Amino acid sequence: MPNQFYLTSKLPPYIFAAIADIKQKAVAKGLDLIDFGMGNPDSAPPDHVMKSLNQLTQDPKLYGYSVSGGIHDLRKAICGYYQRVFNVELDYKTQALVTIGSKEGITSLATAISDSETHICVKSPSYPIHTFAFIISRSNTHQIPAENAYEFLAKFKEHALQNKGKVRAVIVNYPCNPTAETVDIDFYEELVDFCRQQKIYIISDIAYAELYFDEKTKPNSILQVKGASDIAIEFCSTSKSYSMAGCRVGFVVGNKDLIAALYKIKSYLDYSSFTPLQMASIEALSNKSDKYLKNLRKLYDERGNYFIAQAKKELNWSIKKPQASMFLWSKLPENFNNLSSFDFCKKLIEEIGVVFCPGSSFGISGEGFVRISVIHNNQKTDEAISRIKNLAN
Ligand SMILES: Cc1ncc(COP(=O)(O)O)c(C=O)c1O
Repeated sequence: MPNQFYLTSKLPPYIFAAIADIKQKAVAKGLDLIDFGMGNPDSAPPDHVMKSLNQLTQDPKLYGYSVSGGIHDLRKAICGYYQRVFNVELDYKTQALVTIGSKEGITSLATAISDSETHICVKSPSYPIHTFAFIISRSNTHQIPAENAYEFLAKFKEHALQNKGKVRAVIVNYPCNPTAETVDIDFYEELVDFCRQQKIYIISDIAYAELYFDEKTKPNSILQVKGASDIAIEFCSTSKSYSMAGCRVGFVVGNKDLIAALYKIKSYLDYSSFTPLQMASIEALSNKSDKYLKNLRKLYDERGNYFIAQAKKELNWSIKKPQASMFLWSKLPENFNNLSSFDFCKKLIEEIGVVFCPGSSFGISGEGFVRISVIHNNQKTDEAISRIKNLAN
């Protein structure tokens, strides 16, 4: 019997799985982990969402299959959300779908639009599924190393002009996981203008759009650019904004052709998320969550600031303040920069039980960096920093 399979042998080992393995061994050794590794929100979802879900799960009629692409009321609520937050008008029948988390949505879209003749462009470092969804779909990806969004844009344009007709789509993700970088509307305008001329689709992922720390730099939707929905699709999620990561409810809006292609694939593959979770997501997307979001932004901002201040004070480790997201993205502390990011993280887990995410998980350009999710209170941050200080001395 063959025990090597074409696709799985082509995929490199998933670094998050390797880290999970090291964590498990550290726990078995008796270490008490402080885990800043995963972007797994620690807050409870909004009260009104929990109450609604509680009630909905009592209704036995809601336990059947739901509908591919999501229930119409949620699709309408998604369009209502875009209208309210971004002033973007959408047709719920042709321009909005529910996904089983945006990770599933991106992967299904990759299945829908991939072919062996074209490729997609993605920045390095980036959220792994932006690359691997296409590799899993047996398509090709072209990773573009870039330190910031405009460097990426310039290199992407150059590549697309040299490979006319070969680039099917480009993926952008701002606020960015892992770097936390944000972009202004001018960035999207330039991207849309170029991609419309070159007939390249744009896949935007704004999973962290609600987690910003200053009204003046509030993240935009690419669909705010005139004509963007001719070529662009945008994924978003309840996971981070409403701390509902386990619920697996995401959504996607924009270009009708991409939405139709995604819907077709999803109609073969799934019946969407559990109906009560979709109905509770309608509550989440309503303006009843405004106060919750305000508090959540404050929480992530304060935690990030605290981590940055303590890291500087105790470890002389300089970390840049982000404008959005739940992440700090930083070079390794100086006295550890002889190590790869993976070895640094492995050492911290094995020796002191502190977990960060190695930058190399996000592509070669992430080497030398770590991503820190600010999902712990200040006491835990103090404890983690004191453990690192003892290790460094
Ligand atoms: C940029 C980005 N997009 C999408 C996702 C996946 O979100 P979801 O829980 O909706 O699948 C994540 C999760 O970490 C993310 O960082």
